[in-house]
Amino acid sequence: MVTKKLLIVILLPLTTSWSVAIGTGGSDKPALKDAFAGHFLIGGAFNRNLVSGKDPNAAAIAIKHFNTATSENDMKWSLIHPQPDQYNWEPADRFVDFAEKNNMVPIGHCLVWHVQVPRWTFRDDSGNLLTRDALLARMKDHIMSVVGRYKGRIKGWDVVNEALKDDGTLRNSRWLRIIGEGSEEKQYDFIAKAFEYAHQADPNAELYYNDYSLDTKKEKCDGAVAIVKHLKSKGLRIDGVGIQLHSGLDYPDKESLEYSIAALAATGVKVMITELDIRTRTRGYRGADISRINRQSTSDSNAADDETQQKLAQKYTELFSVFLKHKNDISRVTFWGVYDRTSWIGGSPLLFDRNYQPKQAFDAVINVVQNEN
Ligand code: XIL
Repeated sequence: MVTKKLLIVILLPLTTSWSVAIGTGGSDKPALKDAFAGHFLIGGAFNRNLVSGKDPNAAAIAIKHFNTATSENDMKWSLIHPQPDQYNWEPADRFVDFAEKNNMVPIGHCLVWHVQVPRWTFRDDSGNLLTRDALLARMKDHIMSVVGRYKGRIKGWDVVNEALKDDGTLRNSRWLRIIGEGSEEKQYDFIAKAFEYAHQADPNAELYYNDYSLDTKKEKCDGAVAIVKHLKSKGLRIDGVGIQLHSGLDYPDKESLEYSIAALAATGVKVMITELDIRTRTRGYRGADISRINRQSTSDSNAADDETQQKLAQKYTELFSVFLKHKNDISRVTFWGVYDRTSWIGGSPLLFDRNYQPKQAFDAVINVVQNEN
């Protein structure tokens, strides 16, 4: 017992100072949020361990570098509303508390999506698919409860996530099938209703449409433009479109990224980069359909090589040069994660490595903005 205690007394200061040293994310480095102040907000998607104190080194990076925060999973339907009469508020409450305590603008992600939504959402007590009216009522109840709970605290919501196919037409989800009833006139109704309910629940909250591959597929971007125009034609509030920007070492190219920013901004909404990361593995599927993408499918044994890290830094340089060029249209850039180990994809996609250290890519991003100032 005495020996154990003694050991703790000797080792504790060592471990603490080590974790603080690595936890600051490069104590000699400038903070991203300060470097980009006056241009756009900089943020990250936070997981439960980060906001609950179980990953203090990740929290230290977030607190130093970010002034906006998105909940990575805990506000998604299946997590926050797992059963018809049961909401799981605690993790989402922690997220909002963490963001507020650390002066970060909290973003809610997401209200209506075709994945991470329980099976019961679309079915009645006997297991039959709901009618249009019943599903709309369920959607309204969910949105009023979730948005209502954080009224005045969440700055903006991803109201509808990933409603588009790559060709720019609407994805054949249960939301579309049941609420759209196979009719062309009603195809946008599930989106319009979601925006209407969210506005009703918190009239001051910003409301966004969010999707991937808007930066690589022109038709998909045009599909997002059509959604914005439809909502505006109905007099509904929409403040922004999120370009997720799950990228790779050789995509998107500058021109198509610029096309998407300009085309979306031309509708009068703000453009946000909402889920930035860069896949280092160069083979395979390029989109961000979560049924096809995960840590295994994107793992990359060369991720730590100097050559890969240089390419990663170059791609980040190019992307941030484009963001700065279009800074009048871009209000926020959010990374999908904080450091490589807890990223949803494998390889080396973020600015901080598996040991919480800033990478070449971090310096590259700082250089872009310092050279422009
Ligand atoms: C991902 C999370 O990062 C993972 O932890 C989870 O298992 C699946 O979802 N597009 C989105 C995000 O809008 O919500 C997804 O997040 C990544 C793709």
